[in-house]
Amino acid sequence: MCPKLALLLVVVLHNYAIPSFGSDPDPVLDFCIPAAGIAGCKNSSAASVDDFVFTGIKSPGKFGETGLAAQPVNVNVFPGLNTLGMSFVRADFEVGGINVPHFHPRATEIAFVLEGRIYSGFVDTENRIFAKVIEKGEVMVFPRGLLHFQMNVGDKPATILGSFDSQNPGSVRIPNAVFGAGIEGKLLEKAFGLNSKEIGKLKRKFAPH
Ligand SMILES: *[C@@H]1O[C@H](CO)[C@@H](O)[C@H](O)[C@H]1NC(C)=O
Repeated sequence: MCPKLALLLVVVLHNYAIPSFGSDPDPVLDFCIPAAGIAGCKNSSAASVDDFVFTGIKSPGKFGETGLAAQPVNVNVFPGLNTLGMSFVRADFEVGGINVPHFHPRATEIAFVLEGRIYSGFVDTENRIFAKVIEKGEVMVFPRGLLHFQMNVGDKPATILGSFDSQNPGSVRIPNAVFGAGIEGKLLEKAFGLNSKEIGKLKRKFAPH
């Protein structure tokens, strides 16, 4: 085989045989339902309508201690999204509930307020904040990779539906990433101007359970 063809094959196989490892490639197929146990797609004649329907977000999920129930509908729970370059989320908020500052390394998010009033915003790379209260029926976009956050400021529960331009946007939650990952305490003391007792408290609070 000529070397150019071999290289092309490697690139093609890398992009399509293991689609979850790179950035989302532009699809060359209508769909690619991952085949069980092997990298690659199920034979398309074995696909059925149920491969393209997800029924898991009819009602709110389990609320966490910040008053948020986020249910990502990404390729990990909805394999039909594989190679399609997008995914979804349903997020329910208790009164006063928050979505902690976080970012999605692989996707821009566009969020629609289905119910309620949400203080909603992001911070750019110059630490400028863009935040306001958005109401039922309004939409806000959070550019890819930028820190963003939400809080239910209404007097009723709130619900948001979000879309992402990645099948697997990823989510880095700042408190957990900074205090819960095991970064050396001395470094965090200096970074935040806190003493070892204060940092210890934060480390315990955000340690993974
Ligand atoms: C896909 O399935 C069809 C029908 O069962 C079969 O004829 C075809 O050979 C299969 N294709 C591959 C690549 O396995």
